[in-house]
Amino acid sequence: MIFIRDMKNESESGAIHAISIGSCVIGISIFIFFCEAFGIMKVVVTGGAGFIGSHIVDQLLLAGHQVSVIDDLSSGSRTNLPSKVPVYQINIVDSLAIAKVFKLERPDAVCHQAAQMSVSRSVRDPLFDAQVNCLGLINVLDASTKYGCKRFVFASSGGVLYGDVTSPAPESTPANPISPYGITKWTGERYLKFFAIERNMTTVALRYSNVYGPRQNPHGEAGVVAIFSKKLLAGESATINGDGAYVRDYVYGLDVARANVLALECSNPTLVPGTLTSINIGTGLGTDVNELESHVRAEASAIRTRNNQAHEMLLPTKGPARAGDLRSNLLDPAFALNVLNWKPSVTLAEGLKQTVDWFANKESV
Ligand SMILES: NC(=O)c1ccc[n+]([C@@H]2O[C@H](COP(=O)([O-])OP(=O)(O)OC[C@H]3O[C@@H](n4cnc5c(N)ncnc54)[C@H](O)[C@@H]3O)[C@@H](O)[C@H]2O)c1
Repeated sequence: MIFIRDMKNESESGAIHAISIGSCVIGISIFIFFCEAFGIMKVVVTGGAGFIGSHIVDQLLLAGHQVSVIDDLSSGSRTNLPSKVPVYQINIVDSLAIAKVFKLERPDAVCHQAAQMSVSRSVRDPLFDAQVNCLGLINVLDASTKYGCKRFVFASSGGVLYGDVTSPAPESTPANPISPYGITKWTGERYLKFFAIERNMTTVALRYSNVYGPRQNPHGEAGVVAIFSKKLLAGESATINGDGAYVRDYVYGLDVARANVLALECSNPTLVPGTLTSINIGTGLGTDVNELESHVRAEASAIRTRNNQAHEMLLPTKGPARAGDLRSNLLDPAFALNVLNWKPSVTLAEGLKQTVDWFANKESV
């Protein structure tokens, strides 16, 4: 607020300004009092226009929090977000722009989803991967702590940290990332710990398994459910690489968003300033790609029948095995239940139905 002094009517205008400043201060104090009393936070979500980020924004708004988004819209979209949510369209690698946003927003908490998330791109271009996933993260961590953020939640990945595991891996499983993407997620967790200790912040790394659901980008290399949904709904065949006997732990996007909100709000004594807590977010249940394709095909077939489209579904075609694809990856979610009181609530059957329905409705819009 700018205070302008009028020398002619100094006493009168001085009194008016004093009243307006006074009421403004009282207004802000009441607002802060209510926010604190009801646990309402100001949260910045980086990557908030993307698949998982936009579900987190929805759930934060539902819980009554005040949310703003930082996203360069490289893979996310403004249309994933309600129009009332402010979006700063900037690259997290741009440290000055990031600092400006944090100076303005001064969030209580940050939920960091923005990332270069293609494993194959990270192999082709490890420098770009490190710029976004390490330098970008450091910019956001640095600005967060400089402007008073108390809690930082980071999107990590159980899949790339634990490698090939045939039974659900607990958080104590030694990390052995082999791709640059895996290395930068692991390094990201180390940076969280450093900032937590050095600048007295509470940090949480949520290690997701394979996330799927509405709004996932069907054009990337990951997101097999989105890719299969789009192909099969169009009456084309899905491509299965190798023998398809690759087991993954599929967790629904809304469940992952809920875990983020819990990690931001939770007052469990494990989550205290100066610490990093890494928590698996998965189901512990394995499904191979052949089974997954047949589930998605059944859902797509039902929708095509309902829509009077040819419902004779094509069987999958075989593609070459992808070098380096893990045979099996599963996460043990027991610690998430302990610390966050989180467990997955949507079964794979229900989640696939919701997802294929969503893609079908989106196509018809
Ligand atoms: N989807 C999964 O299965 C999965 C699994 C493990 C971890 N993760 C992690 O979860 C997070 C969210 O992934 P998602 O699946 O929602 O992907 P997404 O591509 O839908 O979302 C990422 C968002 O970040 C934005 N972004 C990318 N680079 C940016 C940059 N330099 N500056 C600003 N914004 C940038 C994109 O525009 C997008 O909106 C990522 O950190 C990813 O590594 C995802």
